[in-house]
Amino acid sequence: MFKHHSALGLATALRPVQPVTLLRPHAASRAARFFAEKFPGRSLYAVKANPSPDLLQVLWDAGISHYDVASLGEVRLVAETLPEATLCFMHPVKAEEAIAEAYFSHGVRTFSLDTIEELEKIQRATRNAADLNLLVRLRVSSDHSKLSLASKFGAQPSEVKALLMAARQAADALGICFHVGSQAMSPAAYGEAMSRVRDAIVEAAVTVDIVDVGGGFPSWYPGMEPPALETYFEIIHNAFEALPISYSAELWCEPGRALCAEYASVLVRVEKRRGSELYINDGAYGALFDAAHIGWRYPVSLVRDEASDAREMAFSFYGPTCDDLDHMAGPFMLPADVQAGDYIEVGMLGAYGCAMRTGFNGFGIEDRVIVEDEPMASLYTDIPERKRATNVITL
Ligand SMILES: Cc1ncc(COP(=O)(O)O)c(C=O)c1O
Repeated sequence: MFKHHSALGLATALRPVQPVTLLRPHAASRAARFFAEKFPGRSLYAVKANPSPDLLQVLWDAGISHYDVASLGEVRLVAETLPEATLCFMHPVKAEEAIAEAYFSHGVRTFSLDTIEELEKIQRATRNAADLNLLVRLRVSSDHSKLSLASKFGAQPSEVKALLMAARQAADALGICFHVGSQAMSPAAYGEAMSRVRDAIVEAAVTVDIVDVGGGFPSWYPGMEPPALETYFEIIHNAFEALPISYSAELWCEPGRALCAEYASVLVRVEKRRGSELYINDGAYGALFDAAHIGWRYPVSLVRDEASDAREMAFSFYGPTCDDLDHMAGPFMLPADVQAGDYIEVGMLGAYGCAMRTGFNGFGIEDRVIVEDEPMASLYTDIPERKRATNVITL
């Protein structure tokens, strides 16, 4: 893969026609090392956030040995890319065939579930295996998060006791897991969810070997500036220590976004300007799915040889397809003199950005280049003044 120092060097040298994904392996590695060193337990990477094999390798090299996979496709991908990795199949609703292949062909021993039916499915598919780690997923509130995960999965309090008791019978190791929703803006989300865990353990009176606090750890986006991750870790640690579980119980987490948001940005070209609307060459069917569909805002920066001294103004984006839905409302703050032919770097697209790209309308092609400069924002390091001035504080 090509290497460049920064987006500017690339835009000036190559004037790329397709969007270019700018990869920052050093940023993903830094995030992984942070979790490996500071989270008071084991960190699994939630592969769905960005399944790029290059990224998987970076995370592995930085100390992430366990992977949260949610589909057979992810099981096969990680097993092939990282044959030594431990896979945990954390989707609570799985095809029986997928469970069987995961167990018998790929050595997966850890499965999540939120119903008795799923428990029976896992037992059938694994022919009543005696070496299963079974994690019962509780339904918890998504109140502190920007993206709810509270409706679809998770056993209700009234169902939990019977489920924990049944899973205890079937499991070698019994766990409890939950997901507080993605981009949790307060560590209180985890404190509150851990109270649900405590209630469940007390009511079912079972021995619990694993508590998995899921994903939800935030990253930095315009208008969403979370507290330091250490404050999340502290609340989780204290709540875990206070649970009625054995001294040998393990604490796990499954970050997706927090490990890879800083890994990638995309360099796009402006093809047309209409007032405050910029027609760019990536969009809703590319890396900007969340920007279009849920109004997520990303930091942006005009990439020009000579910095513009025009005042900043709010722009919206149209993507390249023929579809009206291919629209990103933003607002994206850029110098008022942006014009067709300019390049813009859209930052923090490593999680649920690059992973969403489709080939719709023939626009799925991207180039990928490694860059050495810092991401537009970081929860793991201070960002240089130049970046802060143009991308962070002003948004
Ligand atoms: C079971 C599970 N774990 C982990 C994650 C990762 O969440 P996040 O990217 O918010 O950290 C998800 C995301 O949907 C999930 O469903």
